[in-house]
Amino acid sequence: MSLSVDFMGIKLKNPIIVAASPLSGNGSMISKAIDAGAGAVVTQTIANEVRLNVRPRIAANSLGMQNIELYSNITLEEWEREIYYVKEKDAVVIANILAHTPSEMAYIAKKVERFGVDAIELGISIPHGEGVELLISNIQRLYNLTKMAVDSVNIPVMVKLSPNVSNLTELAKVVEEAGASAISAIDTIRAIIGVDIDKGKAMLPTYGGYSGEGIRPIALATVAGISQAVKIPVSGIGGIENYKNVIEYIMLGASTVQLCTSLIMNGYGRINEILGDLENWLEHKGFNSLDEIRGQALSSLKSFEEISIEPYIAKVSNVCNMNDCNICIKSCMYGAISTKNDIIVIDDSKCTGCGLCVSLCKKKFIYLDW
Ligand SMILES: Cc1cc2nc3c(=O)[nH]c(=O)nc-3n(C[C@H](O)[C@H](O)[C@H](O)COP(=O)(O)O)c2cc1C
Repeated sequence: MSLSVDFMGIKLKNPIIVAASPLSGNGSMISKAIDAGAGAVVTQTIANEVRLNVRPRIAANSLGMQNIELYSNITLEEWEREIYYVKEKDAVVIANILAHTPSEMAYIAKKVERFGVDAIELGISIPHGEGVELLISNIQRLYNLTKMAVDSVNIPVMVKLSPNVSNLTELAKVVEEAGASAISAIDTIRAIIGVDIDKGKAMLPTYGGYSGEGIRPIALATVAGISQAVKIPVSGIGGIENYKNVIEYIMLGASTVQLCTSLIMNGYGRINEILGDLENWLEHKGFNSLDEIRGQALSSLKSFEEISIEPYIAKVSNVCNMNDCNICIKSCMYGAISTKNDIIVIDDSKCTGCGLCVSLCKKKFIYLDW
């Protein structure tokens, strides 16, 4: 059984990539990620100018974090040294680069190729910062920037997209047409994490990007949509906390996955935990490689018109005497769930088969066969 994957023609020992962020902000951080077992690392966004860190710039809540960082505070020239040391370790390094014009793109792309990186990721979907947030809203500009990067180098180019747009499928197709080798998705989602109501001001001094568990459902939908729209491989990003999340992305078509917020919160050690669990799961299920499950769940996603209205209703599989839990009763909008002799029962005549109780039941006693 092997976790290795072929991604854009590069052999990775496993599909876990550390995403562009401060976790990959210099050579020694990248080295740590590689030593922790990552299949590859994407550098923090490298631009033609440095951006000093504003303070404060990160705030978290129970489902993720908002950040207002823009890009690396190390110069393009200094990145040569950072990458040189990491490449001595035989690590797979992908340079995330940002450029505003095609000629700037060609300049930076050629430079990082010369520094020895294995591939390039275009970090042009950051949802904050003047100029940056406008970059991919224009299809022609996205095509030109991607094409210029692709034509300027002999290494694969991947383009990072985000759902901060309304025409994502169209953008994915344009990126493929321009010759990109892969698409990564998603970047953070434009957000305000909250307001300090005592001070009457936002938690951070400008709009930022939200990441972490809270964005996973949006990211999964984005990755599935892109996988269905294009033939080039997809690197799934957003809220990956554990091996199950990795499998979800792979089953929706991703070839690799990228992790950021869960590593910030739990440390690089999380990579090995996930790899161990992933290996155990595949072995337990009798799979030899990730190729065997890639895209498996895509066929379960029908168009709305294809879904037939079947008379499904929820059933209880075990005797549930609730203990302290009555979430299914409280949340049933149709009044179909109640107790009889302290045991959960479902009234078939009232259940409309919505499925909410199935997903809420912590004991997995309620099911609906669809
Ligand atoms: C603090 C922080 C800094 C980030 N910096 C970058 C960056 O420099 N370039 C980039 O393309 N994405 C950047 N990202 C976005 C991540 O690479 C990733 O796309 C996003 O966080 C979603 O993944 P996650 O939910 O696993 O964090 C950053 C995210 C965070 C939280």
